[in-house]
Amino acid sequence: MCSIAAAEQEAISDAIEGWAMSPSEREDDYLAQILKENPDMAQRMMELAEREKDIVAKQNIESTHKHCFDLAILAKSLAESGDIKELAKPSPQGKKIFVMSALFHDIGKKEIDPELLTKPGHLTDGEYEIFKGHPQAGYELCLNNLSNPAEAAIVAETVLRHHTYKQKQPYPPQSELHRFDEPETEEMIHNYSKILAVIDAFDSLRSARSYRGAAPREDVIGMLEADFPDQKELINFLVVNFIPPAELEKEKE
Ligand SMILES: [Fe+2]
Ligand SMILES: [Fe+2]
Repeated sequence: MCSIAAAEQEAISDAIEGWAMSPSEREDDYLAQILKENPDMAQRMMELAEREKDIVAKQNIESTHKHCFDLAILAKSLAESGDIKELAKPSPQGKKIFVMSALFHDIGKKEIDPELLTKPGHLTDGEYEIFKGHPQAGYELCLNNLSNPAEAAIVAETVLRHHTYKQKQPYPPQSELHRFDEPETEEMIHNYSKILAVIDAFDSLRSARSYRGAAPREDVIGMLEADFPDQKELINFLVVNFIPPAELEKEKE
């Protein structure tokens, strides 16, 4: 596990308060606290932002870094709402694990060429194979860089599975997933990864990407229901609560 000197940790904390986060993220002390507890991982997150900074500005698209923070904010809201059965009354530790998994779910993209990540148009088969490696890369980064080994094990496993529960082209294959001996932990990881998969797809669809614009509300519902047919309740909850009213008004025009 790589360790960071005190001065560097302080610099990371300062950066967390500053350029690395948008104003709404800066207001969220909960996420800042997670990053302060995990300086090695905060460093990896900044590397993720740094790698794609220029290309994101040039193409005027949303960064992976921002997507990770948006997903963590969404995950926190869901865990606190008590309305999602898989997240029913999470313990403080369970809530933290879920939010951390959302925050770091795409950290594995740090290992992928930003040109490939932001390529306009569709990826070739070869490029898609490289892209599909990001959950495994994220698993390793979480396992090696999160400060608390117990949290690291569960967050890493949840991150590994964040594309496993969709109907179309899930990855990595079930056979490559690791298993926990404790059924309760296994169930927690299963539930958290399942919800994470849905909210990840939701956040991607509601925002512009290099290969398409933000999807209209009806398309968001249709595409999510096709990919997660057993999650209609959650999909409805997300659309009703997290697509801004301004977007709905625009659609009515
Ligand atoms: Fe991903
Ligand atoms: Fe994602």
